[in-house]
Amino acid sequence: MNGQSYSAATTRAWIEVDLGALVRNAATLARHAGVPLLPMVKADAYGLGAVEVTRALESLEPWGYGVGTVDEGVELRSAGITRPIVVFTPLWRGDWPILRAACLTPVLDRADEILEWGATGGGDWQLAVETGMNRAGVPWDAVGELAATLREVPPQGVFTHFYSAERMDGTREVQEARFHAALEALPARPPLIHAENSAGVEHGTSSAYDLVRPGVFLYGVDSGGMDGAEPVVALRARVVELHDIADGETVSYGASWRARGQRRIATLSVGYADGYRRSLSNRGTVMLHGRQAPVAGVVTMDMTMVDVTGIPCEIGDVATLIGSEGPSGPTITIMDLARAAELSPYELLTGLRERLPRIYLTSGAEDLVREASGDPGPAAAAEPEESDRSVRSARARAMERGQ
Ligand SMILES: Cc1ncc(COP(=O)(O)O)c(C=O)c1O
Repeated sequence: MNGQSYSAATTRAWIEVDLGALVRNAATLARHAGVPLLPMVKADAYGLGAVEVTRALESLEPWGYGVGTVDEGVELRSAGITRPIVVFTPLWRGDWPILRAACLTPVLDRADEILEWGATGGGDWQLAVETGMNRAGVPWDAVGELAATLREVPPQGVFTHFYSAERMDGTREVQEARFHAALEALPARPPLIHAENSAGVEHGTSSAYDLVRPGVFLYGVDSGGMDGAEPVVALRARVVELHDIADGETVSYGASWRARGQRRIATLSVGYADGYRRSLSNRGTVMLHGRQAPVAGVVTMDMTMVDVTGIPCEIGDVATLIGSEGPSGPTITIMDLARAAELSPYELLTGLRERLPRIYLTSGAEDLVREASGDPGPAAAAEPEESDRSVRSARARAMERGQ
């Protein structure tokens, strides 16, 4: 076990990450695409823990990994990852020494920087082609102007990024046509060509390129293509107070929630400083003992109140804010919560803060929920094996970084 013990990690609020489901999602995409994966593990694997996620994905032998910053790549190298790691953002040259020392692959798109990369030692690099998002990369119709530079310092890979592949609105086709025109303008075919993100794979047939770059699908969020992604994440929090309040009483800051009749309010030990957003005030719903309890009043920094009137509930019970309480019960998906919070699922996931310990499971989460609730359940004897779970707290991570 890494860092805190399981019981210490589940005193307040925590995230469970089912690495088994993550690997199955990745395998599903790889099968559908028919080419190796370049999983995107940037932003700490969308907030779930880049080292743990990457180690789990190693079992599928992906081509390499995608990150967003040099530091994220260095973290994976320090964890012993030896496959290629591509940093998918434009970098300032000041980052190059560390990037080279860690054997990371930059993405470049301007003649001056490509030539300088070659002149200062070279090494694998990839060319970003801008086909419609207008964020980063050489414009698709300007690739021909780079031909002499690319002959001198050839890229290992060339890629573009789809901005709305989930919409099936014809924009992907426009981007692909532009990408093909850009590929035609290259002086030579590079060893690797790639384009599809999760939605690109889900809504496509087998890939026409060499790799695919899924992110969010791995973490349990699909866009309605294929058979859907298995849930990977659960967010849970303890009931720490119970209050019976009279008709007309209000709850939380600003008194935006008023009791109609006598109500029972449970205080959960999770708040917007954990990433349970303030926009869920009076809108979110949690699950407790198979029933739905609506958020009552404004979500505060460390605590959130829910209306549990009629739900048998005690201090110490575990509420589920994302995920399900058991194999057959209802599920609050990341997408459900993101909609309620008026966020994208990406923003919701990456906004789950480090103060929530991450608990890594390789089995179903149900036994652990029961265990956390103090309910022995049918699998009481089956305390998960040490190898089936690990816990990573912010404190343990800081210690690993030597802070
Ligand atoms: C360049 C690039 N490729 C792939 C992805 C993965 O996208 P998704 O999480 O939608 O699969 C991203 C994510 O933003 C990206 O920036």
